Amino acid sequence: MHIGIIGTGYVGLVTGACFAEFGVYVTCIDRDERKIKSLKRGIIPFYEPGLEELVKRNIEKERLLFSTKIKDAVSTSLAIFIAVGTPPRGDGSADLSYVEEVCKEIATHMDSYKVIVTKSTVPVGTGKKIKNWISKSLKKKVDFDVASNPEFLREGSAIEDFMRPDRVVIGAESPQAIAILKDLYRPLYLIETPFVITNVETAELIKYASNSFLATKISFINEIANLCDAVGADVHVVAKAMGLDKRIGPKFLHPGPGYGGSCFPKDTMALLQLARQHKVELNIVDATIRTNQKQRSLMVEKIKSRLAPLKDKVIGVLGLSFKPNTNDLREAPAVYIISRLMEEGAVVQAYDPVATDDAKRVLNNVKFKKNAYEVARNAHAIVLVTEWNEFRNLDLKRIKKAVKEPNFFDLRNVYDPERMQELGFNYYSVGRSIKSQ
Ligand code: UGA
Repeated sequence: MHIGIIGTGYVGLVTGACFAEFGVYVTCIDRDERKIKSLKRGIIPFYEPGLEELVKRNIEKERLLFSTKIKDAVSTSLAIFIAVGTPPRGDGSADLSYVEEVCKEIATHMDSYKVIVTKSTVPVGTGKKIKNWISKSLKKKVDFDVASNPEFLREGSAIEDFMRPDRVVIGAESPQAIAILKDLYRPLYLIETPFVITNVETAELIKYASNSFLATKISFINEIANLCDAVGADVHVVAKAMGLDKRIGPKFLHPGPGYGGSCFPKDTMALLQLARQHKVELNIVDATIRTNQKQRSLMVEKIKSRLAPLKDKVIGVLGLSFKPNTNDLREAPAVYIISRLMEEGAVVQAYDPVATDDAKRVLNNVKFKKNAYEVARNAHAIVLVTEWNEFRNLDLKRIKKAVKEPNFFDLRNVYDPERMQELGFNYYSVGRSIKSQ
């Protein structure tokens, strides 16, 4: 089967490369000529473990093609996936102008039956709009279906998530469209991945509801962590015991500086906006968003309560990306925390294993260092913001020797409080005011 993927951002490229690995012939389209030129040589514009090898291998096998022209994908493909950006507008709702533009262009080249599939996270009701945009722009009278196939890929483990998903969601009305999509995903069917087949609106909502629920779990445990700090309880034990209840589950109950990235902040806002348009209250999602914003600022307060006034204090920050294994800085807690600390006059020196070059474009006046030990030199405090593996086993004695004052803010609870105290650090974490048992 031949398919087309429009948009070679994170979702589009991972999806295209993974389908090619399944043996499908994939044409990936992006209007950015430089990007396409690099992709043809197997150069990936972002960091995602395993993706470069996958892209290179499938280019060699001639199953993965790149082009800047939508026309190149439409004529040969039976299914066309839309994976372009849906950035947030000022009011938090998703901006669909790229999706609209792409649909109109696909339509002008359609000369036989196609399934048009949305992979981008789009508001409920977009499927209907797509049908409309395409119908109006068709040059020939051809039959087509619109389907929704939301992605559940996490940055940093996207290939694994694609190859071994918890479920595949297909929203479509016609049996033909469902059969084509099921056929595409046949390798996953064979490993008994659950398939949820539903209508387009339900599929669209599943994505927002899933991301918002995960974000809610994080905000919930962050509030419980703050309470743990106040009453002398240990949030890790609370989360572990909660997670042992199968109705709750152990995942996404790790406290920290709040969720970031390109998905949770955007999708929770968009869901809230959609509910408002329909005059439905989503109080829990609303509280989740507010709690998340508060959590980032509480981290700054934590640092200030020990170090204030911050003027001329040197603060060493470990980790800049919104989570490990990605160079993505969108809505990264580190960017917010660093900006607030610098506003109050602190001198920030920082290191990230992968995101430093990207951070240079976003954060002015930060002194970027080559490793954690350089970050520690003469610092009044270390703040661990992103739990990269290389920060899990630091030579703490070396860090202690390098710093000016042994204040250690571990915003991801990587280290054992008791051991840190034994080493002579003033150690602060999130929700573990008592020693771990
Ligand atoms: C998220 C979802 O997990 C994917 O299923 C979804 O497909 C994707 O959004 C999307 O909509 O495209 P992602 O944003 O890559 O994936 O990252 P996550 O691993 O979900 O982490 C999101 C944020 O939550 C990070 O800032 C992370 O540090 C934070 N987090 C996660 C916590 O603070 N605590 C936790 O227990 C888990």
